[in-house]
Amino acid sequence: MNNLDEIKIESKTCLNDQEQEVKIDNMHMSDQDKNKIEIKNKSGLGEKWPEPIVRVQSLAESNLTSLPDRYIKPPSQRPQTTIIDHQPEVADINIPIIDLDSLFSGNEDDKKRISEACREWGFFQVINHGVKPELMDAARETWKSFFNLPVEAKEVYSNSPRTYEGYGSRLGVEKGAILDWNDYYYLHFLPLALKDFNKWPSLPSNIREMNDEYGKELVKLGGRLMTILSSNLGLRAEQLQEAFGGEDVGACLRVNYYPKCPQPELALGLSPHSDPGGMTILLPDDQVVGLQVRHGDTWITVNPLRHAFIVNIGDQIQILSNSKYKSVEHRVIVNSEKERVSLAFFYNPKSDIPIQPMQQLVTSTMPPLYPPMTFDQYRLFIRTQGYRSYGSLKNYLEIPKDW
Ligand code: OGA
Ligand code: NI
Repeated sequence: MNNLDEIKIESKTCLNDQEQEVKIDNMHMSDQDKNKIEIKNKSGLGEKWPEPIVRVQSLAESNLTSLPDRYIKPPSQRPQTTIIDHQPEVADINIPIIDLDSLFSGNEDDKKRISEACREWGFFQVINHGVKPELMDAARETWKSFFNLPVEAKEVYSNSPRTYEGYGSRLGVEKGAILDWNDYYYLHFLPLALKDFNKWPSLPSNIREMNDEYGKELVKLGGRLMTILSSNLGLRAEQLQEAFGGEDVGACLRVNYYPKCPQPELALGLSPHSDPGGMTILLPDDQVVGLQVRHGDTWITVNPLRHAFIVNIGDQIQILSNSKYKSVEHRVIVNSEKERVSLAFFYNPKSDIPIQPMQQLVTSTMPPLYPPMTFDQYRLFIRTQGYRSYGSLKNYLEIPKDW
């Protein structure tokens, strides 16, 4: 679904009547607020999913021997893990590892390597990043315990396509879509106006406190990484952060739960996508691999280092850097032996300021590759389409200029 007409058609089936009746005629409303309502009305994101939600976890626990049709990818999209495993020349290639301590002590080699990682891989792992290993382990374990709670304890947080906050099992509202093999939990840290403890789980008993601390530490780490990327791009160290809205950045968390899968060769935990936001800081499962990063024509399985984070460039930094830094496609494979939990922390620009290539990175030989668009508009565009173009900058260029 690549244009707004089609999104509007979809919105008729998804918005409730009340929403469709909203009229933008309040003279006292600011243009910005009118714009927000307009976006909402065009969005097709209502309170209801198009079909009853099935928890992947409950399917996994029902001892299926074969994969339900809804999760079977067409042959061309299946993971084909064996082919990659048997390619000796790619077996040793992996995303770069960056020592942040050494980088901040002025090591020029590290600075150069992180720059290359952003240009060529769009991905790297960071060690000596300043977040305590105990907090990382506690965060992962606590969220694992959340997913292992009885169904009823989780269903109270069941999410809707309007905000996606809470406990979810699909992305996109396309009826009959082939689904990914995961359940997830999505919540906001920043802006503070969106941080709502009532939308965070209350069990296990320490989860809110722990999650709050985790969020604060990751916001700090995100800010530090931003200064490195900024100066590596030839900008002032604070400039990228300023383009994100300074103090008013967004930060949210998607905890992914990938249950054991009866036929992993036919399914994906997450379909190929690029991350729509600024930058993602992923805490992977240190026991179970799953994340694959596109590198040329191959999918490279990332080997997570213990207590490292996997960082990747999102679409908004690709836009701001005028494509010097790459928001690279990635996906997740599943397995029949072990469940897997990962925490994807998204560090995003303030959602209502226009994002466009930084002036210093635009020249006569390198014209701006993207029109200005706010992250709100961009995210909505992606969410109405599910995974077919989730995060895809190809489609971004197809959005009419008057959107
Ligand atoms: C994501 C993501 C990777 C993983 O949540 O956007 O890419 O390993 N997750 O779970
Ligand atoms: Ni991702």
